[in-house]
Amino acid sequence: MNVADGEIVDAILLKSHFEKSYDIDNADVILFNTCAIRDKAEKTLLYKLDYITGLKHRNVKKRIIVGILGCMAQRQKEDLLQHKHVDFVIGPDEYRRIPDIIDEIMSHNGKVNATTLSLCETYGDISPHYKQGVSAYIPISRGCDNFCAYCIVPYTRGRERSRDIDSILREVKLLQQQGFKDVTLLGQNVNGYRYNSYDFAKLLDAVAVTAPNIRIRFLSSHPKYFNEDIVKAISSHKNICKYIHLPVQSGSNHMLKIMNRNYTREQYLEQIHMMREILGQDVAISTDIMCGFCGETDADHKETLSLMEEVKFDYSFTFAYSERQGTYASKHLKDDVDKNTKIKRLNEIIKLQCQHSLEKYQKCIGKTYEVLVEKKSKRDQEEWTGRIDSYKVVVFKNPSQSTQITVGDIVNVKINSCSSATLKGEMI
Ligand code: 5AD
Ligand code: SF4
Repeated sequence: MNVADGEIVDAILLKSHFEKSYDIDNADVILFNTCAIRDKAEKTLLYKLDYITGLKHRNVKKRIIVGILGCMAQRQKEDLLQHKHVDFVIGPDEYRRIPDIIDEIMSHNGKVNATTLSLCETYGDISPHYKQGVSAYIPISRGCDNFCAYCIVPYTRGRERSRDIDSILREVKLLQQQGFKDVTLLGQNVNGYRYNSYDFAKLLDAVAVTAPNIRIRFLSSHPKYFNEDIVKAISSHKNICKYIHLPVQSGSNHMLKIMNRNYTREQYLEQIHMMREILGQDVAISTDIMCGFCGETDADHKETLSLMEEVKFDYSFTFAYSERQGTYASKHLKDDVDKNTKIKRLNEIIKLQCQHSLEKYQKCIGKTYEVLVEKKSKRDQEEWTGRIDSYKVVVFKNPSQSTQITVGDIVNVKINSCSSATLKGEMI
């Protein structure tokens, strides 16, 4: 979501009188786009601000303006503004004001706090400044109303709202014309999309029909709103990828309840079953898992491992709980799982996931897949990398002297070997 926001900010600034600099040491304005989801993400910004201190020392005569964007700005507001090198903080719903704020600071000095959240801002009329390539993100909704007990997002990104359908379809068409081949529809709660008579399943249908030459994915779904209509939409369009990311967080009903996730382990497993029934056993499924949340016992943790065994995710994004001030958990629950236990549980989850990923990847050996070519491999100039429909990375060689390939092509690759993170093969 931050990458997508960055592209919206780029579009706003380029439309005004700014130019993008790729060299931080020569820039007049430096913007940090921040994340507040875990403590580690926030610490990253503090290290980067140390760099600014050195930069300003080396350029004492130059006026450098520093702005903090995004969730950390929204959360810490005045506290961040106290930092001697920070000129302004701007939350996720105020990006339209960036050019004016920079101009104001240039002419009057002073500091600006722009952190009002909006009930309706979707930046629907702004076409993001996409980086050249084959893949792009299209934000379709913003904010989150779920208030999971551990999560800061509802406080930093505000209420959930959906972008109008026309601007989404316009964007998809434009990307297709520009040669993009892979689009990810984005939202904190992407399957909660609702605009007039369009729910998420209908939106998927409309996007797939509008851009038949583009592979379509979406992130991140909430099990609470996941349903058969969505899966049927996926199954009825060849260009919607058979890949679903469905964060489970925990396999223990007790933890799911405390987390305020609004589903049970059984309901989650039922959804996985339904996806595999309709889309086939090959559908790729990934998840987010968090360990060490307040009160999590060894028995709860084992439930998570057993759910992983039952589902066998293709991939998972795994986290140790990090308390965020202002959330329900920080006010009413105790962060009582010690750090070492969190790390131990996280390592067990990662180890199990590696086994499962390897099993999934091994099943691909001997099969041939359509691969969207993304780039030349960094390690070996003879090799290319790309992705198959289920988002698995493929590294492959083109043995043919006569067939040239370029980024954005879709080629057939036969898989010969794999690791737990990459498939290897040869173009046929
Ligand atoms: N601590 C650790 N992980 C978190 N996530 C969200 N909030 C926290 C937190 N406070 C994880 C969840 C979510 C993913 C984007 O980040 O697993 O799905
Ligand atoms: Fe956070 Fe839960 Fe909303 Fe996801 S659904 S952004 S975890 S509050």
